[in-house]
Amino acid sequence: MLVTSRSFEEYEAFFALTSEDLAGAVLDCSAGASGFAAVANARGGRVTAVDPAYDQEAERLGAAASDAATRGRTILAEHRDHYVWSWYGTLERHDELRQAALAAFLADLRLHPDTYVPGSLPDLPFADDAFDLALCSHLLFTWSNVFDHAWHEAALRELLRVAREVRVFPLVVQGAGDAVPFMSSVLDRLRDLGHQAEVVDVPYEFQRGAHQMLTVAAARTSA
Ligand SMILES: C[S@@+](CC[C@H](N)C(=O)[O-])C[C@H]1O[C@@H](n2cnc3c(N)ncnc32)[C@H](O)[C@@H]1O
Repeated sequence: MLVTSRSFEEYEAFFALTSEDLAGAVLDCSAGASGFAAVANARGGRVTAVDPAYDQEAERLGAAASDAATRGRTILAEHRDHYVWSWYGTLERHDELRQAALAAFLADLRLHPDTYVPGSLPDLPFADDAFDLALCSHLLFTWSNVFDHAWHEAALRELLRVAREVRVFPLVVQGAGDAVPFMSSVLDRLRDLGHQAEVVDVPYEFQRGAHQMLTVAAARTSA
């Protein structure tokens, strides 16, 4: 799986983030080489990033993320028509955001290494309720051709253990953007456990049909 570097601006749109959302303790899981934590924290935020890739040396991680950005650009250039360009405008703007996010991530990783915690779902190295909000960009559901129903349920329950609210984007499989076959059964299971799960529209679409996020409020917030 590639270690990609989406930007703060993309995250804002994926997760319909408000200034109130950003005022709390936020977990970016799995953050990869995203610039979200770097930019949010420079603006006074309290974001922690977690990813299994953070057990690597910064140089190796930077090289992997740079390679991912180059490969991503090549794929997009070859399959431009498969995507909706209204949010980015151009491939150049898309590329510019990825490069800036990667630079912000690498600089912040050196300055604030404690922000970047090695860890993997479904077993995160954080206390119960450590965060107000957990964001998951391009891992859950995106990789449902790799991770199965049981893994998704365990991963979401773990995220709901460490955060009071969890948001996931996108809700389609990577590549052709197929629907996730076990999505409704995962949501039913979360609701059975008392969590409040909702699928809501967001102001972003790139993969066709991927303009919704999942938001889940943990059962204890309504208790
Ligand atoms: C496609 S990248 C997304 C990175 C970033 N969120 C973004 O949107 O650019 C997926 C990330 O998931 C991480 N990952 C892979 N397996 C994982 C697991 N079991 N638990 C948590 N993260 C995982 C990878 O290391 C990779 O950085």
